[in-house]
Amino acid sequence: MEHPGFKTLPTHIAMIMDGNGRWAKKRLLPRTAGHKVGLDTFVEMVDACSDLGIPYMTVYAFSSENWNREKTEVDALMSLMESGIRRYTPEMHRKNIRLHLMGDLSRFPEKERTSLLACEEELSQHTGMTLSICLSYGGRQEILHAVNELLAEGKKEVTAEELEQHLYSAGLPDPDLIIRTSGEYRISNFLLWQSAYAEYYFTDVYWPDFKKEELYKALSSFETRKRRFGK
Ligand code: IPE
Ligand code: IPE
Ligand code: MG
Repeated sequence: MEHPGFKTLPTHIAMIMDGNGRWAKKRLLPRTAGHKVGLDTFVEMVDACSDLGIPYMTVYAFSSENWNREKTEVDALMSLMESGIRRYTPEMHRKNIRLHLMGDLSRFPEKERTSLLACEEELSQHTGMTLSICLSYGGRQEILHAVNELLAEGKKEVTAEELEQHLYSAGLPDPDLIIRTSGEYRISNFLLWQSAYAEYYFTDVYWPDFKKEELYKALSSFETRKRRFGK
């Protein structure tokens, strides 16, 4: 599908990929089936944003709080995310996509962590779209992690710039547009510091059904926003 030719695109688009479980439940399928189709949506969105020439894209794949889910679901998600990213790595390579992982990967099982870090390393020198994937990520944890690093350096007082340099997002611009699917109107610990002036787009569509046309609706809405930054 041709996109409608946007006049203004976000420099940094972020997505809270929510609603996989309910998508599956509606079809009387196990939650994992929703996560599998959700992975296809993720790939479609990365392709679409990269083709549009959006420089930065960040997705929320697994939160710090998602560890509290049933072990079977967590295990299935771990293996799905690892294999999904690994299989998609050659394609990201062709598309010159730079991969950046954000979150507390130390909580990941050794095998998955090693594989994900290898994918990140392989794609780290690319100069096209920067794709950040939030895994075992929480906004509060990210800020605390940064503060603790600064304290360990012996800092007694810090500037906003110094704090930003210690966030997982160091070097990335703040998100301009944050999309949340599945009809929930909350941020669930996503990019708390970075989203200070982000525009939000909420849709009832479940993540597995979020296709290019839905992305274009969000981008059309973004074009109409008048951003003021307090001025
Ligand atoms: C999003 O879908 C994927 C993750 C949070 C890992 P959910 O699994 O939260 O699906 P719902 O919200 O229960 O429908
Ligand atoms: C947010 O979704 C996290 C991800 C999409 C990875 P959740 O489904 O975990 O959020 P809550 O529990 O509805 O707030
Ligand atoms: Mg959810």
